[in-house]
Amino acid sequence: MTADFGDASHISRSGTGPGPPARPGAVLRGNAERPQPVAATVTSRLFQPLTVGAVELPHRVVMAPLTRMRATQPGDVPNELMAEYYAQRAGAGLLITEGTQISPQGKGYADTPGIYSDEQVAGWRVVTDAVHAAGGRIAPQLWHTGRVSHDSLHEGGALPVSASAIPFRNRTSLKDADGNVYRADCPTPHALTVEEIAGVVEDYRRATRNAREAGFDLAEIHGAHGYLLHQFLSADSNQRTDEYGGSLENRARLMLEVLDAVIDAWDAEHVGIRISPIGSFNGLEDPEGAEAGLYLAEQFARRGIAFLHLSEPDWAGGPELTDEYRKELRAAFPGVIIGAGAYDVAKAERLLDAGFIDAAAFGRAYIANPDLPERLRTGAALNEPDQATFYGGGAKGYTDYPALED
Ligand code: PHB
Repeated sequence: MTADFGDASHISRSGTGPGPPARPGAVLRGNAERPQPVAATVTSRLFQPLTVGAVELPHRVVMAPLTRMRATQPGDVPNELMAEYYAQRAGAGLLITEGTQISPQGKGYADTPGIYSDEQVAGWRVVTDAVHAAGGRIAPQLWHTGRVSHDSLHEGGALPVSASAIPFRNRTSLKDADGNVYRADCPTPHALTVEEIAGVVEDYRRATRNAREAGFDLAEIHGAHGYLLHQFLSADSNQRTDEYGGSLENRARLMLEVLDAVIDAWDAEHVGIRISPIGSFNGLEDPEGAEAGLYLAEQFARRGIAFLHLSEPDWAGGPELTDEYRKELRAAFPGVIIGAGAYDVAKAERLLDAGFIDAAAFGRAYIANPDLPERLRTGAALNEPDQATFYGGGAKGYTDYPALED
Protein backbone atom coordinates (compact mmCIF):
# COMPACT_ATOMS: atom_id res chain seq x y z
CA MET A 1 0.00 0.00 0.00
CA THR A 2 1.07 3.60 -0.27
CA ALA A 3 1.80 5.77 2.69
CA ASP A 4 -1.42 7.67 2.64
CA PHE A 5 -2.77 7.31 6.12
CA GLY A 6 -2.64 9.92 8.81
CA ASP A 7 -4.03 8.06 11.76
CA ALA A 8 -4.65 4.43 12.51
CA SER A 9 -7.98 5.03 14.00
CA HIS A 10 -9.96 4.31 10.92
CA ILE A 11 -8.62 0.83 10.95
CA SER A 12 -11.40 -0.16 13.15
CA ARG A 13 -14.15 0.66 10.83
CA SER A 14 -14.71 -2.82 9.67
CA GLY A 15 -15.26 -4.17 13.07
CA THR A 16 -13.51 -4.74 16.26
CA GLY A 17 -11.33 -1.75 17.00
CA PRO A 18 -11.91 1.75 18.25
CA GLY A 19 -12.71 4.58 15.93
CA PRO A 20 -15.49 5.93 13.77
CA PRO A 21 -17.70 3.86 11.49
CA ALA A 22 -16.45 2.64 8.17
CA ARG A 23 -16.75 4.57 4.99
CA PRO A 24 -16.82 1.87 2.36
CA GLY A 25 -13.75 1.87 0.19
CA ALA A 26 -11.73 4.13 2.43
CA VAL A 27 -9.65 1.46 4.06
CA LEU A 28 -6.73 -0.69 2.97
CA ARG A 29 -6.29 0.29 -0.60
CA GLY A 30 -3.87 -2.20 -2.05
CA ASN A 31 -1.09 -1.83 -4.55
CA ALA A 32 -3.36 -3.02 -7.29
CA GLU A 33 -5.45 0.13 -7.01
CA ARG A 34 -2.71 2.58 -6.17
CA PRO A 35 0.47 3.72 -7.81
CA GLN A 36 3.69 2.56 -6.15
CA PRO A 37 5.34 4.95 -3.67
CA VAL A 38 7.20 7.90 -5.07
CA ALA A 39 10.52 8.87 -3.52
CA ALA A 40 10.90 12.30 -2.00
CA THR A 41 13.04 14.50 -4.23
CA VAL A 42 16.51 15.69 -3.27
CA THR A 43 15.15 19.14 -2.57
CA SER A 44 12.31 17.67 -0.54
CA ARG A 45 11.13 19.86 2.31
CA LEU A 46 9.92 16.73 4.08
CA PHE A 47 13.53 15.89 4.81
CA GLN A 48 14.64 19.31 5.99
CA PRO A 49 15.14 19.88 9.73
CA LEU A 50 12.50 21.70 11.74
CA THR A 51 12.48 23.43 15.11
CA VAL A 52 9.38 22.50 17.10
CA GLY A 53 9.37 24.62 20.21
CA ALA A 54 12.27 23.46 22.36
CA VAL A 55 13.07 20.49 20.13
CA GLU A 56 15.03 20.14 16.87
CA LEU A 57 13.69 17.56 14.44
CA PRO A 58 16.10 16.19 11.84
CA HIS A 59 13.22 15.95 9.31
CA ARG A 60 9.47 16.42 9.15
CA VAL A 61 8.02 12.91 9.07
CA VAL A 62 6.12 12.51 12.34
CA MET A 63 4.59 9.35 13.76
CA ALA A 64 0.91 10.03 14.51
CA PRO A 65 -0.73 8.77 17.70
CA LEU A 66 -2.04 5.21 17.26
CA THR A 67 -4.16 3.26 19.73
CA ARG A 68 -2.57 -0.19 20.21
CA MET A 69 -4.05 -1.39 23.56
CA ARG A 70 -1.04 -3.27 24.88
CA ALA A 71 -0.39 -1.71 28.30
CA THR A 72 0.30 -4.11 31.17
CA GLN A 73 -2.61 -4.97 33.46
CA PRO A 74 -3.58 -4.19 36.08
CA GLY A 75 -2.70 -0.53 36.12
CA ASP A 76 -2.47 0.43 32.41
CA VAL A 77 1.32 0.46 32.67
CA PRO A 78 3.67 0.99 29.69
CA ASN A 79 6.06 -1.94 29.28
CA GLU A 80 9.21 -3.25 27.59
CA LEU A 81 7.31 -4.35 24.52
CA MET A 82 5.98 -0.82 24.04
CA ALA A 83 9.51 0.51 24.53
CA GLU A 84 10.72 -1.80 21.78
CA TYR A 85 7.89 -0.72 19.46
CA TYR A 86 8.59 2.99 19.90
CA ALA A 87 12.39 2.55 19.77
CA GLN A 88 12.01 0.71 16.45
CA ARG A 89 10.31 3.86 15.13
CA ALA A 90 12.81 6.33 16.62
CA GLY A 91 13.86 7.40 13.12
CA ALA A 92 10.71 9.57 13.05
CA GLY A 93 11.27 13.32 13.23
CA LEU A 94 9.00 13.10 16.27
CA LEU A 95 7.08 10.18 17.79
CA ILE A 96 3.70 10.99 19.28
CA THR A 97 2.48 8.19 21.51
CA GLU A 98 -0.87 6.52 21.51
CA GLY A 99 -3.55 8.36 23.47
CA THR A 100 -2.58 8.11 27.14
CA GLN A 101 -5.19 8.73 29.80
CA ILE A 102 -4.48 11.53 32.25
CA SER A 103 -6.63 9.88 34.91
CA PRO A 104 -8.59 6.66 35.45
CA GLN A 105 -11.71 8.63 34.48
CA GLY A 106 -10.08 9.56 31.15
CA LYS A 107 -9.83 5.94 30.01
CA GLY A 108 -12.07 4.93 27.14
CA TYR A 109 -10.72 1.68 25.76
CA ALA A 110 -9.28 -1.53 27.20
CA ASP A 111 -5.56 -1.66 27.96
CA THR A 112 -4.58 1.85 26.87
CA PRO A 113 -1.73 3.28 28.96
CA GLY A 114 -2.07 5.99 31.58
CA ILE A 115 0.21 8.72 32.85
CA TYR A 116 -1.11 9.41 36.34
CA SER A 117 0.49 6.75 38.57
CA ASP A 118 4.11 6.32 39.67
CA GLU A 119 4.18 2.90 38.08
CA GLN A 120 3.08 4.37 34.75
CA VAL A 121 5.71 7.11 34.96
CA ALA A 122 8.37 4.45 35.58
CA GLY A 123 7.03 2.48 32.60
CA TRP A 124 7.15 5.53 30.35
CA ARG A 125 10.70 6.20 31.51
CA VAL A 126 11.68 2.83 30.03
CA VAL A 127 10.03 3.90 26.76
CA THR A 128 11.64 7.35 26.56
CA ASP A 129 15.07 5.95 27.48
CA ALA A 130 14.79 3.37 24.69
CA VAL A 131 13.70 6.02 22.17
CA HIS A 132 16.48 8.39 23.19
CA ALA A 133 19.07 5.61 23.06
CA ALA A 134 17.91 5.00 19.48
CA GLY A 135 18.31 8.71 18.67
CA GLY A 136 14.63 9.70 18.67
CA ARG A 137 12.30 12.27 20.21
CA ILE A 138 8.93 11.44 21.78
CA ALA A 139 5.82 13.22 23.07
CA PRO A 140 2.94 11.58 24.95
CA GLN A 141 -0.57 12.29 23.75
CA LEU A 142 -2.48 13.41 26.84
CA TRP A 143 -5.96 11.97 26.53
CA HIS A 144 -9.33 12.11 28.24
CA THR A 145 -11.88 10.22 26.21
CA GLY A 146 -14.91 11.69 28.01
CA ARG A 147 -18.10 9.99 26.90
CA VAL A 148 -16.27 7.68 24.45
CA SER A 149 -15.89 5.16 27.22
CA HIS A 150 -17.76 2.53 29.17
CA ASP A 151 -18.89 2.08 32.78
CA SER A 152 -17.12 -1.30 32.91
CA LEU A 153 -13.77 0.55 32.63
CA HIS A 154 -14.43 2.64 35.75
CA GLU A 155 -14.30 1.85 39.42
CA GLY A 156 -17.68 0.96 40.81
CA GLY A 157 -19.12 1.04 37.30
CA ALA A 158 -19.13 4.84 37.31
CA LEU A 159 -20.50 6.47 34.20
CA PRO A 160 -18.13 8.12 31.75
CA VAL A 161 -18.22 11.92 31.88
CA SER A 162 -18.81 14.68 29.37
CA ALA A 163 -20.03 18.26 28.94
CA SER A 164 -23.68 17.20 28.97
CA ALA A 165 -25.68 14.06 29.63
CA ILE A 166 -26.85 13.65 26.05
CA PRO A 167 -27.53 10.22 24.57
CA PHE A 168 -25.34 9.59 21.54
CA ARG A 169 -24.41 6.75 19.26
CA ASN A 170 -20.88 5.45 19.47
CA ARG A 171 -19.06 2.34 20.52
CA THR A 172 -15.79 1.65 22.25
CA SER A 173 -13.48 -1.38 22.39
CA LEU A 174 -13.30 -3.59 25.43
CA LYS A 175 -11.76 -6.97 26.18
CA ASP A 176 -13.60 -10.08 27.30
CA ALA A 177 -12.29 -12.54 29.90
CA ASP A 178 -10.24 -14.32 27.21
CA GLY A 179 -8.60 -11.08 26.13
CA ASN A 180 -10.57 -10.83 22.90
CA VAL A 181 -11.47 -7.30 21.79
CA TYR A 182 -15.15 -6.58 21.28
CA ARG A 183 -17.18 -3.46 20.62
CA ALA A 184 -19.67 -2.09 23.15
CA ASP A 185 -22.13 0.80 23.05
CA CYS A 186 -21.10 3.84 25.07
CA PRO A 187 -23.63 4.82 27.75
CA THR A 188 -25.11 8.29 28.18
CA PRO A 189 -22.47 10.13 30.23
CA HIS A 190 -22.59 12.07 33.47
CA ALA A 191 -22.35 15.85 32.93
CA LEU A 192 -19.33 17.19 34.81
CA THR A 193 -20.03 19.78 37.49
CA VAL A 194 -17.93 22.95 37.53
CA GLU A 195 -16.00 21.55 40.49
CA GLU A 196 -15.33 18.30 38.67
CA ILE A 197 -14.13 20.27 35.64
CA ALA A 198 -11.52 21.95 37.83
CA GLY A 199 -10.39 18.47 38.86
CA VAL A 200 -9.98 17.45 35.21
CA VAL A 201 -7.78 20.50 34.59
CA GLU A 202 -5.65 19.46 37.57
CA ASP A 203 -5.40 15.94 36.15
CA TYR A 204 -3.87 17.39 32.98
CA ARG A 205 -1.45 19.41 35.07
CA ARG A 206 -0.33 16.31 36.97
CA ALA A 207 -0.04 14.32 33.75
CA THR A 208 2.22 17.01 32.31
CA ARG A 209 4.47 16.95 35.36
CA ASN A 210 4.58 13.19 35.00
CA ALA A 211 5.48 13.50 31.31
CA ARG A 212 8.45 15.66 32.22
CA GLU A 213 9.48 13.29 34.94
CA ALA A 214 9.22 10.35 32.55
CA GLY A 215 11.69 12.02 30.19
CA PHE A 216 9.45 13.03 27.31
CA ASP A 217 10.67 15.75 24.93
CA LEU A 218 7.31 17.50 24.39
CA ALA A 219 3.66 16.90 25.29
CA GLU A 220 0.62 16.86 23.03
CA ILE A 221 -2.91 17.53 24.29
CA HIS A 222 -5.60 15.55 22.48
CA GLY A 223 -8.25 18.12 21.63
CA ALA A 224 -9.64 16.25 18.61
CA HIS A 225 -11.84 13.40 17.40
CA GLY A 226 -14.87 13.72 19.60
CA TYR A 227 -13.07 13.08 22.91
CA LEU A 228 -13.62 15.15 26.07
CA LEU A 229 -12.19 18.52 25.00
CA HIS A 230 -13.93 18.27 21.64
CA GLN A 231 -17.16 17.28 23.43
CA PHE A 232 -17.01 20.59 25.28
CA LEU A 233 -16.17 22.48 22.10
CA SER A 234 -19.05 21.25 19.97
CA ALA A 235 -22.58 22.54 20.52
CA ASP A 236 -23.70 19.08 19.40
CA SER A 237 -22.42 17.55 22.64
CA ASN A 238 -22.34 20.62 24.89
CA GLN A 239 -25.69 22.03 26.01
CA ARG A 240 -24.43 23.60 29.21
CA THR A 241 -25.78 26.92 30.38
CA ASP A 242 -22.83 27.86 32.61
CA GLU A 243 -19.50 29.42 31.64
CA TYR A 244 -18.50 26.23 29.83
CA GLY A 245 -21.48 26.27 27.43
CA GLY A 246 -23.29 28.52 24.99
CA SER A 247 -20.91 30.82 23.11
CA LEU A 248 -17.87 29.54 21.25
CA GLU A 249 -15.65 31.23 23.83
CA ASN A 250 -17.44 29.34 26.59
CA ARG A 251 -17.32 26.00 24.78
CA ALA A 252 -13.60 26.46 24.09
CA ARG A 253 -12.95 27.42 27.72
CA LEU A 254 -12.06 23.95 28.98
CA MET A 255 -9.62 23.29 26.12
CA LEU A 256 -7.85 26.58 26.80
CA GLU A 257 -7.86 26.08 30.57
CA VAL A 258 -6.28 22.69 30.01
CA LEU A 259 -3.75 24.21 27.62
CA ASP A 260 -2.87 26.89 30.14
CA ALA A 261 -2.48 24.33 32.91
CA VAL A 262 -0.22 22.19 30.75
CA ILE A 263 1.87 25.23 29.78
CA ASP A 264 2.03 26.16 33.45
CA ALA A 265 3.27 22.67 34.34
CA TRP A 266 5.96 22.81 31.63
CA ASP A 267 6.19 25.79 29.25
CA ALA A 268 4.73 26.78 25.88
CA GLU A 269 7.85 25.60 24.05
CA HIS A 270 7.15 22.02 25.12
CA VAL A 271 3.44 21.89 24.44
CA GLY A 272 1.40 21.11 21.34
CA ILE A 273 -2.26 20.35 20.78
CA ARG A 274 -4.18 18.26 18.30
CA ILE A 275 -7.51 19.41 16.91
CA SER A 276 -9.85 18.18 14.18
CA PRO A 277 -11.91 21.21 13.27
CA ILE A 278 -13.76 19.64 10.36
CA GLY A 279 -15.25 16.20 10.08
CA SER A 280 -17.39 13.87 12.11
CA PHE A 281 -15.69 11.69 14.71
CA ASN A 282 -16.81 9.29 17.42
CA GLY A 283 -20.45 10.19 17.00
CA LEU A 284 -19.73 13.91 17.23
CA GLU A 285 -20.77 16.46 14.65
CA ASP A 286 -19.35 19.92 15.02
CA PRO A 287 -21.44 22.28 12.92
CA GLU A 288 -19.27 25.25 13.82
CA GLY A 289 -16.03 23.30 13.68
CA ALA A 290 -14.38 25.42 10.99
CA GLU A 291 -14.95 28.64 12.88
CA ALA A 292 -13.95 27.01 16.17
CA GLY A 293 -10.71 25.78 14.62
CA LEU A 294 -9.74 29.29 13.55
CA TYR A 295 -10.65 30.74 16.94
CA LEU A 296 -8.56 28.09 18.70
CA ALA A 297 -5.62 28.51 16.30
CA GLU A 298 -5.54 32.19 17.17
CA GLN A 299 -5.67 31.40 20.88
CA PHE A 300 -2.87 28.84 20.49
CA ALA A 301 -0.76 31.39 18.59
CA ARG A 302 -1.15 33.92 21.40
CA ARG A 303 0.31 31.39 23.78
CA GLY A 304 3.25 30.63 21.49
CA ILE A 305 2.90 26.86 21.76
CA ALA A 306 5.33 24.47 20.07
CA PHE A 307 2.89 23.07 17.52
CA LEU A 308 -0.66 22.73 16.31
CA HIS A 309 -1.39 19.20 15.15
CA LEU A 310 -4.14 19.32 12.57
CA SER A 311 -6.09 16.11 12.09
CA GLU A 312 -7.70 16.46 8.69
CA PRO A 313 -11.07 14.90 7.89
CA ASP A 314 -9.67 12.50 5.33
CA TRP A 315 -8.09 10.33 8.03
CA ALA A 316 -11.60 9.08 8.71
CA GLY A 317 -12.70 9.00 5.11
CA GLY A 318 -13.94 12.61 4.90
CA PRO A 319 -13.12 15.11 2.16
CA GLU A 320 -9.75 16.87 1.93
CA LEU A 321 -9.49 20.23 3.63
CA THR A 322 -9.72 23.10 1.16
CA ASP A 323 -6.68 25.27 0.51
CA GLU A 324 -8.86 28.22 1.45
CA TYR A 325 -9.31 26.84 4.95
CA ARG A 326 -5.65 25.91 5.22
CA LYS A 327 -4.75 29.48 4.32
CA GLU A 328 -7.00 30.88 7.04
CA LEU A 329 -5.59 28.46 9.57
CA ARG A 330 -2.05 29.36 8.63
CA ALA A 331 -2.90 33.06 9.00
CA ALA A 332 -4.32 32.37 12.46
CA PHE A 333 -1.39 30.18 13.55
CA PRO A 334 2.04 31.17 12.26
CA GLY A 335 3.84 28.53 14.34
CA VAL A 336 4.52 24.89 13.48
CA ILE A 337 1.54 23.06 11.98
CA ILE A 338 1.75 19.27 11.74
CA GLY A 339 -0.76 17.93 9.22
CA ALA A 340 -2.22 14.42 9.57
CA GLY A 341 -4.72 12.55 7.44
CA ALA A 342 -4.23 10.56 4.24
CA TYR A 343 -0.73 11.87 3.73
CA ASP A 344 1.65 10.53 1.14
CA VAL A 345 4.86 12.13 -0.03
CA ALA A 346 3.12 14.09 -2.79
CA LYS A 347 0.47 15.56 -0.48
CA ALA A 348 3.06 16.41 2.13
CA GLU A 349 5.35 18.12 -0.38
CA ARG A 350 2.55 20.14 -1.90
CA LEU A 351 1.33 21.43 1.46
CA LEU A 352 4.86 22.04 2.75
CA ASP A 353 5.71 23.98 -0.40
CA ALA A 354 2.52 26.02 -0.09
CA GLY A 355 3.48 26.86 3.48
CA PHE A 356 0.24 25.39 4.87
CA ILE A 357 1.98 22.80 7.05
CA ASP A 358 5.49 22.39 8.48
CA ALA A 359 5.53 18.64 9.09
CA ALA A 360 3.39 15.62 8.14
CA ALA A 361 2.22 12.89 10.50
CA PHE A 362 1.73 9.33 9.27
CA GLY A 363 -0.28 6.84 11.28
CA ARG A 364 -1.33 3.62 9.72
CA ALA A 365 1.74 3.31 7.49
CA TYR A 366 3.83 3.57 10.66
CA ILE A 367 2.22 0.46 12.11
CA ALA A 368 3.78 -1.73 9.43
CA ASN A 369 6.89 0.27 8.59
CA PRO A 370 9.18 0.99 11.54
CA ASP A 371 11.60 2.74 9.16
CA LEU A 372 8.92 4.72 7.33
CA PRO A 373 10.93 7.94 6.78
CA GLU A 374 13.70 5.97 5.07
CA ARG A 375 11.18 4.23 2.86
CA LEU A 376 9.51 7.52 1.95
CA ARG A 377 12.86 9.12 1.23
CA THR A 378 13.96 6.35 -1.09
CA GLY A 379 10.60 5.37 -2.56
CA ALA A 380 10.94 1.84 -1.19
CA ALA A 381 7.87 -0.39 -1.05
CA LEU A 382 5.83 -0.37 2.14
CA ASN A 383 4.84 -3.35 4.28
CA GLU A 384 1.09 -3.94 4.55
CA PRO A 385 -0.40 -3.56 8.02
CA ASP A 386 -2.43 -6.45 9.41
CA GLN A 387 -5.72 -5.13 10.75
CA ALA A 388 -6.32 -8.15 12.95
CA THR A 389 -3.39 -7.20 15.23
CA PHE A 390 -3.93 -3.45 15.48
CA TYR A 391 -5.67 -3.57 18.86
CA GLY A 392 -4.42 -5.63 21.77
CA GLY A 393 -2.26 -8.73 21.75
CA GLY A 394 1.51 -9.02 21.97
CA ALA A 395 4.50 -8.71 19.65
CA LYS A 396 2.70 -10.11 16.63
CA GLY A 397 1.68 -7.28 14.35
CA TYR A 398 3.40 -4.85 16.72
CA THR A 399 7.18 -5.26 16.86
CA ASP A 400 7.63 -7.88 14.14
CA TYR A 401 7.27 -5.75 11.00
CA PRO A 402 10.59 -5.84 9.15
CA ALA A 403 12.76 -2.80 8.47
CA LEU A 404 14.44 -2.56 5.06
CA GLU A 405 17.73 -4.01 6.20
CA ASP A 406 16.09 -6.93 8.05
C1 PHB B 1 -8.94 5.16 18.16
O1 PHB B 1 -8.35 4.44 18.92
O2 PHB B 1 -9.70 4.75 17.30
C2 PHB B 1 -8.70 6.56 18.19
C3 PHB B 1 -7.93 7.07 19.18
C4 PHB B 1 -7.64 8.40 19.19
C5 PHB B 1 -8.13 9.17 18.16
C6 PHB B 1 -8.91 8.67 17.19
C7 PHB B 1 -9.21 7.34 17.20
O3 PHB B 1 -7.84 10.44 18.12
